[in-house]
Amino acid sequence: MKNNYFPLETYYDENFADGVIDISCSGIEPYSFYELQSLIGSELVSDIYSPIEYAESFGVHALRSQLAEKYNVCESCVLITNGASESITIALMATSNNGGNVIVGMPFYNPLKMLLKTIGLRPQYINTYENYVFTYSNIMNAINKNTCAILLNNPNNPIGAIIDKKILSLLINKLNETGAKIIVDEVGLWLTYRNKNYNSIIALDGNMIAIGSLSKAFGVPGIRIGWLITTDMDIMSKAIEIKRTLSCSTSIFAQSIASKILYDSENILMHHNNIISKNIVALKKYLSTSEFIRCSLPSAGATCFPTFKHDINAKKLAHKMLSSHNYLMVPGEILGIDNGFRLGLGFRNTDLIKFFNAIEYEIKTFAS
Ligand SMILES: Cc1ncc(COP(=O)(O)O)c(C=O)c1O
Repeated sequence: MKNNYFPLETYYDENFADGVIDISCSGIEPYSFYELQSLIGSELVSDIYSPIEYAESFGVHALRSQLAEKYNVCESCVLITNGASESITIALMATSNNGGNVIVGMPFYNPLKMLLKTIGLRPQYINTYENYVFTYSNIMNAINKNTCAILLNNPNNPIGAIIDKKILSLLINKLNETGAKIIVDEVGLWLTYRNKNYNSIIALDGNMIAIGSLSKAFGVPGIRIGWLITTDMDIMSKAIEIKRTLSCSTSIFAQSIASKILYDSENILMHHNNIISKNIVALKKYLSTSEFIRCSLPSAGATCFPTFKHDINAKKLAHKMLSSHNYLMVPGEILGIDNGFRLGLGFRNTDLIKFFNAIEYEIKTFAS
């Protein structure tokens, strides 16, 4: 059988259509250009007389300095990329010495398996959550002299759990003995409605690598702005060379829009965190009466992973929810997790209560 390295992308290709409501969306529901312009209160492209040239490979000064301030590092520690997808690729290539083992805390962003294969790194996939709590002993036990990096997603998509700072410190201490790096995919970093103290890996150890993006927290996945942050200048100079090789630079339009978004980021993020909090209230209300579904409430990020109290075929249920109600659900098995589905909490326009009523009705019909 052909190996499918992109089950999530294939699932979307096969099921997404106009008018369908993607109930599994993993960030703030994307904005239209018009909505984004109203949100930031100015034209998206104001300087129409500047030449449309290549940007510097490491990114434009304005955006890098805004991010440097947010992470409390200097500008030279910031590399702008085409989304987190590119910064993850760059981080892995920069930390590997032409090979090595990468420990991946699962669940992790779907396309990673193909990426590791393509760049010739040996993956060790380790399940990191038991009952939504991060367990690190299996990661600690897997570290050896061939480990070049540990890749973690914090907060986790889809689980919504965050990793305790003490545990990250233990891992950092262990890796400092070997010279390997922790790369943390922090695309949900600023969606922190329930955990104000939660912070980037960079606040614990600047020599590690943080991956960030505008896609999820700001509802703009299409502008393709991500970044890589590290104070390790050896890694940074390799990262810039790799960036030059992969894509030369990131669009000046996208960087200029990103800069406008970040200019008012505190207010925008407060608004987005309120949206998620409101959706969590609806989720809690539903869970208090649901016969069929349970869910650990997420600590951060824009997703959670409800599970079934009874034996339910999530794929069949997803099919029914799509054909009868127009809701596109991502069953857990597509993400490599059993017995549940990914639920997005970043909806601005979708009424989650209607979705909950529909799913409760369908499961009841299945059960009877
Ligand atoms: C956990 C995680 N990391 C990274 C990415 C890639 O994000 P970007 O749009 O910034 O490339 C995604 C996108 O779905 C994601 O879910």
